[in-house]
Amino acid sequence: MEDIFNGAGKNYAYEIKGGVSLKGDIDISGSKNAALGVIAASIMVDGVCTLENVPDIVDVHVMFDLCRSLGATIDAIDEHTYRIDPTTINTYKASGPLVSRIRASYYLMGALLGRGGKASIRLPGGCNFGTRPIDLHLKAFQLMGAKGATPAEINSGIVNLEANPLHGARIYLDIVSVGATINAMLAACKAQGQTEIINAAKEPHIVDVANFLNSMGARIKGAGTDTIKITGVPVLPGNFTYSIIPDQIEAGTYMIAAAVTNGDVTIHNLIPTHMEPLSDKMREMGYQIEEGDESIRVYRANCEDTIYPTSVKTSPYPGFPTDLQPQTVVLLCSADGQSRMHENVWQNRFQYVPELAKMGANINVYERIAWINGKSSFRGAIVEATDLRAGAALVCAALEAEGTTYIMNAQRIDRGYEHIVRKLTALGATITRVNHAPEYNEEDTEA
Ligand code: EPZ
Repeated sequence: MEDIFNGAGKNYAYEIKGGVSLKGDIDISGSKNAALGVIAASIMVDGVCTLENVPDIVDVHVMFDLCRSLGATIDAIDEHTYRIDPTTINTYKASGPLVSRIRASYYLMGALLGRGGKASIRLPGGCNFGTRPIDLHLKAFQLMGAKGATPAEINSGIVNLEANPLHGARIYLDIVSVGATINAMLAACKAQGQTEIINAAKEPHIVDVANFLNSMGARIKGAGTDTIKITGVPVLPGNFTYSIIPDQIEAGTYMIAAAVTNGDVTIHNLIPTHMEPLSDKMREMGYQIEEGDESIRVYRANCEDTIYPTSVKTSPYPGFPTDLQPQTVVLLCSADGQSRMHENVWQNRFQYVPELAKMGANINVYERIAWINGKSSFRGAIVEATDLRAGAALVCAALEAEGTTYIMNAQRIDRGYEHIVRKLTALGATITRVNHAPEYNEEDTEA
């Protein structure tokens, strides 16, 4: 992989000299959030499996290391292909510091519970967007017969789950939750009898995890709709090769980067239907979006034309993805008039707005709504990536800005964007990784 691990555990910055229109072609990597779910699912398999199109990003390597810490044998065949043998797993406990480095470590609860009826996992870390409870995950496990799933039973931040036996259940999620849907699906695969998840999340990565499990021998129906039915099976034979879907959020970030720099970029290896919420808004704003079978070209017919303001509300798939909210706010800053962004998924996901203001953005936030006064001219500044997608938004703003921007804590961006320096450089950007200022040394936890 690229040199991102040379700085593992250390902080660094991206220096971006803006004002260059991005031009050319770019390939999208495998989906971070699908890969994290699929890797967790792979530890339930009773044989070996091979994963292709695995993104070469920090969070995925942390998830691999977590699975190795359980005893799994994981070998890289190449940069994006891994052979996983979970038959060597010898513990159901994961409580070390790796667990709190990624949010998705919570998938080990469902996977280990499904695998052997027991899981002992530290509560996960995560980007700070306000409270991030896992009550729905625990409720699902409890309905399936697991003991240890009530808040009172969580001991020193460790969830100790045990089911004897784990059985199917009807699970109603009163909030649409990606994590709870995947966790319930994982546990249900090997539970006795049938499980029904009602008001399930429908994100592309839910479907990808279900497709992976089905190819390993699971019986999951309805993934991608709001009711998922799973018939438990005693064995998941595995011995199959599976390719991770492209990353919807990486693709959207590059679409926005192309747009804000008045560029002309064709983004390959994406699924255009996954991009519809963003493509539709960008067309409404006046951008040209040309869809191919597995590509999208983004450009402006005439750079003098008006960019129209619009209103966006994030919501679960197929709604507008919250993980593109910060980047889209940068896009809305270039509109001719006032736009509105309503964050409907996370309680507090506008923490990056003061950073954008340092670059010249004129945004007023009131509770979950940001009012974006357009026609901002971004200028270079020293700013901080407060989390992964906030960092991606600052990269977009910096590419558009006049002058040089330093994005501190840029290691947070590398958690979810494969080879971002290499990819943007190939499109004509001037972006370099530099050592950070010493005052930026907070712990980084993740997405
Ligand atoms: C996943 O987080 C993603 N992370 C997030 O992406 C993404 O923002 C989020 O889904 C929404 O799309 C991974 O896939 C690893 P949720 P997750 O459970 O599963 C509430 C990124 O940038 N809720 O769908 O943790 C919760 O507070 C990351 O790549 C409960 O109330 O999100 C939130 O308001 C960041 N109780 C809403 O549901 C629960 O038990 C949706 O959360 C669980 C969630």
